[in-house]
Amino acid sequence: MQKEETLRVVLVGCGSMSGTWIETVQGLPGVEIVGLVDIRVEAAQSRAQVHHLTDVVISSQLTDVLEQIHPDVVFNCTIPEAHYETTLEALEAGCHVLSEKPMADSLESARKLISAAQRANRRFAVMQNRRYDANIRRAKAYLATGELGSLTTVNSDFYIGAHFGGFRDEMHHVLLLDMAIHTFDAARFLTGANPVSVYCQEWNPADSWYTHGASAVAIFEMTGGLIYTYRGSWCAEGLPTTWESDWRLIAPQGSMKWDGGTSLQVQQVSESGKFLSSFRDIDVPSSAPDTKTQGHASAIEDFISCLREDREPETAGTDNIKSLAMVFAAIESAETGKRVEISW
Ligand SMILES: NC(=O)c1ccc[n+]([C@@H]2O[C@H](COP(=O)([O-])OP(=O)(O)OC[C@H]3O[C@@H](n4cnc5c(N)ncnc54)[C@H](O)[C@@H]3O)[C@@H](O)[C@H]2O)c1
Repeated sequence: MQKEETLRVVLVGCGSMSGTWIETVQGLPGVEIVGLVDIRVEAAQSRAQVHHLTDVVISSQLTDVLEQIHPDVVFNCTIPEAHYETTLEALEAGCHVLSEKPMADSLESARKLISAAQRANRRFAVMQNRRYDANIRRAKAYLATGELGSLTTVNSDFYIGAHFGGFRDEMHHVLLLDMAIHTFDAARFLTGANPVSVYCQEWNPADSWYTHGASAVAIFEMTGGLIYTYRGSWCAEGLPTTWESDWRLIAPQGSMKWDGGTSLQVQQVSESGKFLSSFRDIDVPSSAPDTKTQGHASAIEDFISCLREDREPETAGTDNIKSLAMVFAAIESAETGKRVEISW
């Protein structure tokens, strides 16, 4: 692909999330939205109107639009159940694809999408916008200095009473499938470790406004012997955590606490050998090590740069399947009551 070539994009799934995607594209030089698709065609029409997209093809059928205008890129913002078919069709039509999470509705489908991208020689990546955050990048950059030694234990808590309405109310394993993917991916991002096994218990609290699985607790073994625990709920009222979760990360020479926002505390051992060691507070730099800090906008911008520079995106399907594998293994464990080995 030539660096100066204008990339022509079709966005599929014109619901709530799509506005953020369209606004980002409208601010990017050399990228143009040429089509909007939604099975509810009125949703696509409404998006076109709101974002003043006067010269776009609008349809309820992706097939028609692909045949008619041969775009370079498809952005998949459909509901999770439609991710697989939409991404597969776009890849097979020769488009690069950036898809909303989760990558697919099963590991088998995710593997098929990776193969389809390889066959078509196209880039395929997944939106993991919570990686593109200044504070998680600050935390990761400090951990990468190795000053605390190798992480041994990581805990994250996610508690938000989210009253969405819509597809999530009826979704099975709603917390694990629709939200925990972000937290599991963040755990991989922060630690650089990959999953080995999981034991998970999932439940739907008595007062839940969801149909299924609004709460879960999971214990992961990760590579290097690291243990990562996840506790979460989407129907916990009061004392909410951030959407990025509340974290404690422990290593031989100290610990980090991150509230998912700007509060990032680190204590390093300054003197040991007594009953309790002494610690010094470490000042973690207040700015991120790079500029990939604007959530969806940075993720989309980075994907476009990868196409122009022929680079693999950070959240390419080949990598993101490891985060997805954590989700499906946790679900299998919750369903069987057994510890599950994780592969992808
Ligand atoms: N990354 C994040 O932080 C984040 C936040 C919210 C939602 N999401 C994800 O974004 C996706 C969309 O979520 P939303 O909140 O916009 O949902 P939504 O229900 O508001 O919108 C989804 C749209 O997709 C359309 N659609 C469904 N199946 C389709 C198909 N086969 N072809 C074309 N259009 C189809 C629906 O008609 C709807 O307009 C989901 O995967 C969700 O998990 C991600």
